[in-house]
Amino acid sequence: MTLLLVVGRGLLRRAPPIKEMRARLAAVKWALQKCFSTALRQDVVITDRATAHRLLVRGGGGGAFCNRPPTSAASSVLSRQRHHNIGSAPYGPLWRAIRRNLVSEVFHPSRLRLYAPARRRALRGLLADLREQCTSSNVALAAESMHAALFGLSAAMCFGDGVDAGRVRAMADAMEDLIRSLVGLSVFAALPALTELVYRKKWNKLVALRRQQEELYLPLINARRGQHHRPSGEAPTYVDTLFDLLVVDDNCSASGGNSPKQRLTDGELVGLCSEFLGAGTEPAIAAMQSVMANLVKHPEVQEAVRREIDAVIGEDAEEVGEEDLGKLEYLNAVLMEALRLHPTVPSLSRQYDRVVINQAHGLNFLFTRKVIPEDHIVLDGRRASAGTTVQFPLERLARDKAAWADPDEFRPERFLAGGEGEGVSLVAAAGSAGEIKMMPFGAGRRMCPGMGVAMLHLRTSGTSWRTS
Ligand code: HEM
Repeated sequence: MTLLLVVGRGLLRRAPPIKEMRARLAAVKWALQKCFSTALRQDVVITDRATAHRLLVRGGGGGAFCNRPPTSAASSVLSRQRHHNIGSAPYGPLWRAIRRNLVSEVFHPSRLRLYAPARRRALRGLLADLREQCTSSNVALAAESMHAALFGLSAAMCFGDGVDAGRVRAMADAMEDLIRSLVGLSVFAALPALTELVYRKKWNKLVALRRQQEELYLPLINARRGQHHRPSGEAPTYVDTLFDLLVVDDNCSASGGNSPKQRLTDGELVGLCSEFLGAGTEPAIAAMQSVMANLVKHPEVQEAVRREIDAVIGEDAEEVGEEDLGKLEYLNAVLMEALRLHPTVPSLSRQYDRVVINQAHGLNFLFTRKVIPEDHIVLDGRRASAGTTVQFPLERLARDKAAWADPDEFRPERFLAGGEGEGVSLVAAAGSAGEIKMMPFGAGRRMCPGMGVAMLHLRTSGTSWRTS
């Protein structure tokens, strides 16, 4: 702090001309870019399936493969890595508490059943929208319609059924803007205090987007907070489950201080709802788009999906009930094949070590712990250094000739009885006997907690291909 004041006074005494300041700024930017590109060059890329399984699933006992590299998630960036959501929280008590809450309070099968009416409404809305488009113009913008239906469903699960359509659209637009701006946010993952000055315009844009999210979400959050009596049988929304959740501040516990459990702040609630809406919608839509692109290229596959649905529910039935989804084996095979060939998350990243963010005197320090021997990565006879980023490219791993016949071909039949994909599990830990054949939802402790609900939503919206 003292140092900053001295420099500040010095600047006031003799402010350098603007041109000189610009040149200095450009030099700092160049140095930072060099810094980042050096860091990137150290990435280790794992392309061998057995090694991926060893590190992600069997290894990681000491926490070595349980962290992602410092994140560029909006909440973490804006709070200088203090506020976290599930995807960005370091492996530890906070991550455990918020992840367990999502998995057991919202995604547990007994809870998911309670959202069936919301899913039915979303499907009916989607079918009506597609039919309307088909009759009025002969062309249906199916991806847009599915996005609106899925985002609306996620918003209902997050805040309840009563959110008006205009606000849901505004939330979806704000999410799109945020996702677009995330691409350039990795510059804030390191040295936030400095990068925030250097990339001022980007920073201000992020602050504005976050403010917009707060304006949209906080009234809904407060309305739920004020609602004490929920009719029995009504599903609790995601935000309801967060109000009374007590969490430990990882920053305090890491510095050895007493860390009393506390409720989540409004800022943290907004960040978690934003993650729920973004993670719950965008990868699923990307998956649907790759399926639809393949259906256009392979009309015989779309015809087979239609025939299967007609055979299961009858040609005259309007929509598929959830009790029939399990019978649609070919539809499931089409989804699995699209997820194998075009995983929506291109690569998993892990920080090769356990990194604890510690705080003292208002400054963040990084402390690293040693990696346990089982998790060592040796490259050309030398151990990779702690802190290295390790990448697991999902598409490459899932197109291995040793696991799949003609791995680059779109062939849903491989997931039917007798095919090499029959019985392949999406959970790499189970049923794969030391093997990962595909992992579109990741693997190990940081695997996607939304896999079950995502597959349910994909199957449900996939039944609309009969219409489009
Ligand atoms: C087709 C849909 C989806 C796909 C392909 C997908 C894929 C993924 C992948 C690859 C990861 C990284 C896993 C790892 O690093 O091992 C991930 C993480 C995550 N996903 Fe999903 N996901 C989908 C849907 C969902 C849904 C519906 C939610 C629910 C809101 C969700 C919430 C999350 C969260 C919170 C994480 C971070 C987990 C952690 O760090 O502990 N995802 N997802």
